Amino acid sequence: MHSKEQISHDEYQKTADWLKSQTKHRPQVAIICGSGLGMLADTLKCQDSFAYSDIPGFPQSTVQGHAGRLVFGELKGKTCVCMQGRFHMYEGHSLCKTTFPVRVFKLLGVETLIVTNAAGSLADSLQPGDIMVIKDHISFPGLVGLNPLCGPNDDKFGPRFPAMSGCYDKGLRSLAMEIAKQQGVAGLIQEGVYAMVGGPNFETIAEARLLHRLGVDAVGMSTAPEVVVATHCGLRVFGLSLITNKVVKSYEDSDSVNHEGVLEVGRLRSQTVQQLVTELIGRMEINNNNNNNAV
Ligand code: HPA
Repeated sequence: MHSKEQISHDEYQKTADWLKSQTKHRPQVAIICGSGLGMLADTLKCQDSFAYSDIPGFPQSTVQGHAGRLVFGELKGKTCVCMQGRFHMYEGHSLCKTTFPVRVFKLLGVETLIVTNAAGSLADSLQPGDIMVIKDHISFPGLVGLNPLCGPNDDKFGPRFPAMSGCYDKGLRSLAMEIAKQQGVAGLIQEGVYAMVGGPNFETIAEARLLHRLGVDAVGMSTAPEVVVATHCGLRVFGLSLITNKVVKSYEDSDSVNHEGVLEVGRLRSQTVQQLVTELIGRMEINNNNNNNAV
């Protein structure tokens, strides 16, 4: 199911053209909000918002805690577009549907993509409520060929064999750490490696131990496909994980993770994440290197 479906350049373009006809905003920054982190969109000024169900070509979000709205607006002097609710592979979407909005953002002229997610921690140093700036990822689905770039390459978006080293922009990562210090939340934040698993079940203890031994700091069920597609088409990427739970690694441990708990931590820390991302957007430089007319 996953690698067969193809989306033509025209289909991305149609959605981008429809959005351009409905809003005057021409976003420079796109933000994908993870579970319980969608409130950032509510802070945008001069909003234009669209339910996913009203946008031609857009997939539909089915997960509780994900609103399913695309919100355009201004934040700290930058024009932004914010996804309240993302698409996951475990919902049954093909990976090119999951990542559909990223290419639409590219065609809208977006230059930087910010991704947030909820994740469980494997690293002993990461507690629920901590924030992990994503330094790199391991895509378990990607390693076995569940990759949105499978199939014929669309050269208008990027090369057949894109490099992924450096896909989480170093400059934005250090700016985020600097901002965290200034906001007095340096103790809550550290860099780490995110691993994507397919879900929807949480990990078994044996899987958790495997991930830990492989050097994974946090695990979740999203983000990697969007980042791969964004990097392929030349977007600059910044990602962060809000740690909502510790992944159970011991047979002695009677704790277990659940989706409501994940959403709850998201709500508790949403303000901190929001302030950090808002300041990052305010202070990042936009190079306007997205010459989308050429795409
Ligand atoms: N595992 C996978 N995905 C998650 C977790 C987890 O523990 N917490 C939030 N998303």
